[in-house]
Amino acid sequence: MSQGNEKLWDGRFSEATDAFVEAFTASVTFDFELALFDIDGSVAHATMLGRCGIIGEETAEAIIKGLNEIRADIEAGIFKWSVQLEDVHMNIEAALTDRIGEQGKALHTGRSRNDQVATDVRMYLRHNIDLILLQIQHLQRGLLNLAEGHCETIMPGFTHLQVAQPVVFGHHLMAWYEMLRRDADRLQDCRRRVNTLPLGAAALAGTSFPIDRAMVADLLGFEAIAENSLDAVSDRDFAIEFTSAASLLMMHLSRWSEEMILWASPQFAFIELPDRFCTGSSIMPQKKNPDVPELVRGKTARVFGSLMALLTLMKSQPLAYNKDNQEDKEPLIDTVRTLKDCLRAFGDMIPNIKAQPDNMRAAAERGFATATDLADYLVRKGLAFRDAHHVVGRLVGLAVERGVDLSELTLADFETESDQITDDVYAVLTLEGSVAARSHLGGTAPDTVRAAITRAKHQLG
Ligand code: ARG
Repeated sequence: MSQGNEKLWDGRFSEATDAFVEAFTASVTFDFELALFDIDGSVAHATMLGRCGIIGEETAEAIIKGLNEIRADIEAGIFKWSVQLEDVHMNIEAALTDRIGEQGKALHTGRSRNDQVATDVRMYLRHNIDLILLQIQHLQRGLLNLAEGHCETIMPGFTHLQVAQPVVFGHHLMAWYEMLRRDADRLQDCRRRVNTLPLGAAALAGTSFPIDRAMVADLLGFEAIAENSLDAVSDRDFAIEFTSAASLLMMHLSRWSEEMILWASPQFAFIELPDRFCTGSSIMPQKKNPDVPELVRGKTARVFGSLMALLTLMKSQPLAYNKDNQEDKEPLIDTVRTLKDCLRAFGDMIPNIKAQPDNMRAAAERGFATATDLADYLVRKGLAFRDAHHVVGRLVGLAVERGVDLSELTLADFETESDQITDDVYAVLTLEGSVAARSHLGGTAPDTVRAAITRAKHQLG
């Protein structure tokens, strides 16, 4: 950052800003990320000022030309940011006046940095929500492709992390898909409220110039216009909402991460993660560590932290703009970056997970996963469910004692507990029979899962 020499607001000041205070109050070290949105906003504002006759048409044209040149410098990475100029807005405005002279000073007519920054942040977020939605879609596609190949791959479903009932792996993956579907919904919904134009609120009370806010909204693609100037400059709900949706998404990714970490361990050995998403140990040559899911699980903490930071930032803040609001940017920008990185990692990794069907099946066979099927069988033979539950509990006890699976008990064994059990029982004790029986909407039967995948593909388009 180079040092500029003069402030745009120092008319009433009789001593220079303390050097520490200058650095302490500056935001350009992080809000430079808003630069291109700031320029878009300024171009629209200048266009409107010109068309409404608030500034001369020629002045408006000169400003727009200057701003576009600055945009090119920023894109080329040759724009010189100055901490002394405090923030992205004043850096760009100062550069404009340097470049085009006196006419540049007309740009800020009828506008304040308060409505300007609120507009920039909303445009930044809108842009990034759209990118994130595309990343979610990409991940959803990867998930569907993986699930499609595993509609018959039987694994244990868990409750309490204990083997519960058999499911197909594709069904488990489709549970992940559903989480993402809600995440995308939430972001789309949040986008509507992000996409409201604050510009025109000026510092807090509006402006005495005859501005046309609808024109600016139109030029910038905002679907609504903030209807109260005090609220417009101070509202950061949209940032909190986004970070909250981001937190839920990260919470989901952390759950998948945890499962992948467990499954990739030799104790489970349900999946293999691609080598390129793992790292080795500097001391233990045998190690293949699931660093990417571990890091995603860890990064969830930053996003939750940002949500808490933004909520606390806004708590008890009186209307309208307060400098506190400058603190919204780092948590928000960090959240956007973290989310994009994690989605990128998962988008590449998930479709390349390699399932180990034999190990999944062996695990499903070990935990009496079809005990509920046996209870349901007894209910169909006329027992009340509670009684059936008790009978099966005793049979499981017997199997545990013998060190065998339920399907390995003899008919004579079954008959000691219930005379309702005949040799058709063995059909319900198979893993295939168990999953196939759950063929209602939402169930784990292979055909049902295939139908769910088809529906999802259709929704994704
Ligand atoms: N850098 C400031 C922010 O991020 C811009 C708005 C400054 N407004 C003011 N009145 N000091 O909030």
